Amino acid sequence: DTSLQRIRALLQKRDAVIVAHYYVDGELQELARETGGCVGDSLEMARFGAEHPASTLVVAGVRFMGETAKILSPEKTILMPDDEATCSLDLGCPADTFSQFCDQHPERTVVVYANTSAAVKARADWVVTSSVGKEIVAHLHARGEKILWAPDRHLGAYIQQQTGADMLLWQGSCVVHDEFKADELALLAHEHPEAAILVHPESPAPVAALAHVVGSTTQLIAAAGRLENETFIVATDQGILHDMRKRYPRKRFMPAPTAGQGATCKSCAMCPWMAMNSLGGIERVLTSEVGAIELDAALALAARTPIERMLRFAA
Ligand code: MLT
Repeated sequence: DTSLQRIRALLQKRDAVIVAHYYVDGELQELARETGGCVGDSLEMARFGAEHPASTLVVAGVRFMGETAKILSPEKTILMPDDEATCSLDLGCPADTFSQFCDQHPERTVVVYANTSAAVKARADWVVTSSVGKEIVAHLHARGEKILWAPDRHLGAYIQQQTGADMLLWQGSCVVHDEFKADELALLAHEHPEAAILVHPESPAPVAALAHVVGSTTQLIAAAGRLENETFIVATDQGILHDMRKRYPRKRFMPAPTAGQGATCKSCAMCPWMAMNSLGGIERVLTSEVGAIELDAALALAARTPIERMLRFAA
């Protein structure tokens, strides 16, 4: 048997589906789709996992995505191919320091990005993803609320600029998006004047300022289909290029330049934690009886309210 055949059989045997992010390896995205699971951004993953009848979810992504699945479906078994797969935004926002920050600003509505631990979410009024963050903050701003935002400072500054909301920003950033460089991007755009520039809002402001479209992965994929251009420069994790090339095979997609090249760049536009997801890891967790995500029940319950607020808002 090949690894793929064994995984297909194990998924059936364990009543499991794979819920994968656009940033994982293309082979895993294909496997998720063809076995009845999903590929999506963190909002779509959360929704799919909560609504799917399977009793086990294999979350091919990073830790916070598995935790969100467990929070929304405590009765399900949540497996992750590699339990070391975390996120620089999550790591950069420890729950105790964050909680003190919130205590210092009790008048502010606490809005946190999905890329955080369950403990940070439990402290929030709202959880948002990059697909709905701007709309939710605009809604709160219209109600006269002041925002405490965490953890991504670039996404926070972008939303602040777009909505005019009063936002106090935690100073986190994503190792992948933080590395995109505006000067190099401008040079590449100059060489390819026909190209549309698609940028994720976790990128620094000077990079987003060069974009034709700023948006979440799902929004950037949609823009690649909608725009007439045949060439695109894409500033987000390169995992997304698999989906774009598959959907639009006649269009050309180039990664945006990062600081450094080869061994000298930190991420080279590839999240090191997303890259930990592998076929071997999926097979291993499906074979083993251990390794499921467990969360403190009270913490999970507290984190559920702000996530459900987002899901209702985005419905
Ligand atoms: C997410 O929400 O999954 C990440 O922010 C990446 C994205 O989809 O924009």
